[in-house]
Amino acid sequence: METREAIRTRRSVRRFQDRPVAEEALEALVADACQAPSGLNNQPWRFVIVRSAEKREALAACTKYGRILRSAPAAVAVFLDTGASYHRDKDCQAIGAAIQNLLLSAHDRGLGACWLGEILNQRERVEALCGVATGLELMAVVAVGHPAPDVHGKADRLPLDRVLVGRI
Ligand SMILES: Cc1cc2nc3c(=O)[nH]c(=O)nc-3n(C[C@H](O)[C@H](O)[C@H](O)COP(=O)(O)O)c2cc1C
Repeated sequence: METREAIRTRRSVRRFQDRPVAEEALEALVADACQAPSGLNNQPWRFVIVRSAEKREALAACTKYGRILRSAPAAVAVFLDTGASYHRDKDCQAIGAAIQNLLLSAHDRGLGACWLGEILNQRERVEALCGVATGLELMAVVAVGHPAPDVHGKADRLPLDRVLVGRI
């Protein structure tokens, strides 16, 4: 898929087919996420792949969007390694770029994904259930799976003249 086509056609997927995503496919998504830029190339992102049904249910219980995680056969939890961090704003921006890479890579591979941020309200619970080391701070969970056949994502965007606020 061409880059621009991927950017233009990616949509959040919130319902998935009842079939697993291979471990290797999830690793490939993480590897693509890691190609994102980061300040000083510090690569502050860390990931946990979640495939076990028990852990997915535990994750689902941490967000009001649990139905998405119950539908998804896998998820990727994304963390900031505060030990690798040099500037919090820039590190969070880099992690956002990594997550967007992951979403686009999933789309390009015929998978669907949804960035889940509301789950940050239960950050400590998620960190504990993922079993990550102290210093890893949850940034997002991304639900991943094969899109349900009848998913037709649509998301409006502001017109360009609303967001392009200057030409100087
Ligand atoms: C920081 C962030 C947090 C988000 N959190 C959630 C969430 O908790 N639940 C959810 O269903 N979607 C969540 N989304 C997905 C957005 O709702 C979605 O990207 C937006 O509506 C645009 O739709 P699109 O991704 O299909 O273009 C989040 C997206 C971002 C970037």
